[in-house]
Amino acid sequence: MGRLDGKVALVTGAGSGIGKLSAKLFSSEGASVVVSDIVDDAGEGTVSEIRDAGGDAAYVHADVSKGAEAAAMVRFAVDTYGGLSVMMNNAGIFHPQDDSVTNTDEDVWDKTIAINLKGVFLGCKYGVPAMLESGGGSIVNVASFVAIMGAATPQIAYTASKGGVLAMTREIAVEFARRGIRANSICPGPIETPLLQELLAEPARRQRRLVHIPMGRFGQAQEIANAALFLASDESSLMTGAALVVDGGITAAYVTPE
Ligand code: NAI
Repeated sequence: MGRLDGKVALVTGAGSGIGKLSAKLFSSEGASVVVSDIVDDAGEGTVSEIRDAGGDAAYVHADVSKGAEAAAMVRFAVDTYGGLSVMMNNAGIFHPQDDSVTNTDEDVWDKTIAINLKGVFLGCKYGVPAMLESGGGSIVNVASFVAIMGAATPQIAYTASKGGVLAMTREIAVEFARRGIRANSICPGPIETPLLQELLAEPARRQRRLVHIPMGRFGQAQEIANAALFLASDESSLMTGAALVVDGGITAAYVTPE
């Protein structure tokens, strides 16, 4: 018995990192999975890996910051698999020029908010009606630990976008709590995926971040996928509106142990 048997799961940004491993895990637990991304080769790659492992998956190209594409993505899931039960809004960017509030260009702000915040809004805007028609479901929105704590290395647009994800998720959770839809966020700590690769490539920058993590290591995408599976499945049936922190202890720490 899989933990997602009979469910249809849509994962945005599933061509890479956390989204990819979540899509694969959801499939291995019995879900039919719609893989969505803007990098088609990467998305198709995730689908191939799922199919090679005996799972059922299909790819749809969608830029989550565009309403028509987000709507078509959800329609594709419903048309392909007959409904929608899990919506994982995972696609996100970390812009290299995202910096201090005094030093971040408007276009960097706009792009980050468009993908990281409006993208989650659009995924929910179109995902919720499809879930209601399917008899309910679980929304898993990917935020970040920086939605809860101020980062000493500033990244104002990213931080603001992720704070918005937490607030929006709570409101969606409350509004639909009696109609069979749960909505929760995950707040990952720094995870070794392509998103952070550039940032972590330089040993000094890497070390500067590591000192803030009580566990003394970065996370792996699989560890976030595991949390996403819990929130996606009925095992988390009493949870809604929550922010699940998966961060190696960062948000628990005032000072880190030597
Ligand atoms: P990643 O860069 O490995 O994967 C992100 C995926 O999103 C890529 O496949 C990319 O093509 C896709 N994408 C980018 N823009 C898109 C758009 N407009 N529409 C659709 N897809 C788009 O990144 P990672 O690390 O797997 O990140 C996934 C989520 O986790 C993001 O929301 C990120 O902010 C969040 N996160 C990541 C952390 C980390 O340390 N890696 C820490 C906290 C949160």
